[in-house]
Amino acid sequence: MNIENKSYRTIWEKNIDTIQIIDQRYLPHKLVIEDLKTTRQFADSIREMHVRGAPLIGGTAAYGMYIAVKEAANSVDFDECLNDAIELLKNTRPTAVNLAYAIDKVKNAIDKASDNVEKIEIALTTARAIIEDSVVFCKSIGEHGVDLIETISNKKKGETVNILTHCNAGWMACIDYGTATAPIYEAFNRGIDIHIWVDETRPRNQGARITAYELQQHGVPHTVIVDNLGGHLMQHGMVDMVIVGSDRTTRTGDVANKIGTYLKALAAFDNDVPFYVALPSSTFDWNIRDGLKEIPIEKRGADEVKYIQGLHGSELKKVLITPVGSPAINYGFDVTPAKYVTGLITERGICAANEESILDLFPAFR
Ligand code: MRU
Repeated sequence: MNIENKSYRTIWEKNIDTIQIIDQRYLPHKLVIEDLKTTRQFADSIREMHVRGAPLIGGTAAYGMYIAVKEAANSVDFDECLNDAIELLKNTRPTAVNLAYAIDKVKNAIDKASDNVEKIEIALTTARAIIEDSVVFCKSIGEHGVDLIETISNKKKGETVNILTHCNAGWMACIDYGTATAPIYEAFNRGIDIHIWVDETRPRNQGARITAYELQQHGVPHTVIVDNLGGHLMQHGMVDMVIVGSDRTTRTGDVANKIGTYLKALAAFDNDVPFYVALPSSTFDWNIRDGLKEIPIEKRGADEVKYIQGLHGSELKKVLITPVGSPAINYGFDVTPAKYVTGLITERGICAANEESILDLFPAFR
């Protein structure tokens, strides 16, 4: 996708030793490119959310594994060094299953190699494949999901289709295109009249900062709203559909996504607004069935709730918005039970949020 008319992905190879990322902590006010050269830098960039969003966390971890394999090859004990790196990377963020998916995929691939040179080569080709698959999958999600938008547009005789989205499930959360935004970009590119309600998504404001930035760069009409407005808009017929992303979806269709998603799903259910979740297959956790009991929910620092960051003059500043001594609590994700999900938009097509329909699309996991 484009920033200032220049094409970017969120992560790319600068050279054989250095991976570059967009450091998203500074968006939308500064475009900062960061070099990642060590496993520790990869782990920090995921934990501290220089990169974020389930597919991008997976892509970053995949390249992190490539660097970890190179470090292990130069250490006295390959296995011990690599196992430490895997533990470090896996413990960065608990909810997005794409993290473990990517790490395990690289690990399983290198286990077949006979020497360290081959391990390094395989780690790199596997990381590249994870990245390229992610791009292709997101593009397909867009091509399947656009039909839903087109159908609503036809029903409304070409009048604006209003879509609400939460957090940033855009190209900045992936490698390119996005998950929830992929059908949106596809609809916009096809000339369908759309408008996006962008939840600001406290506490880190990924909607206000990043989704709004992406949509603006692409020219998609949008309006940033406070997180609590969605219900009111739905009650007044101002939302035609909701599309969100996912960090982990059970084989039965329960969806973990950014905190506040569940409340949007409840409001959508009460107002007969279709509620879709867009996700690549790497976001399914095939081992679990009960999202409420089995999905680990990330708890982050209270300061993310207590402080807010923005531009003051030309400087990025953090300001305290609570009394100094007030405690705050910060759960990063919630689980939307499958019964509130109208459908899942995947790279293989759209299915109902239940085990049978999901497995019809992904029979290998029966
Ligand atoms: O905490 P974040 O910013 O990593 O959370 C991101 C989300 O919740 C996204 O909606 C999710 O990862 C979907 S990814 C396209």
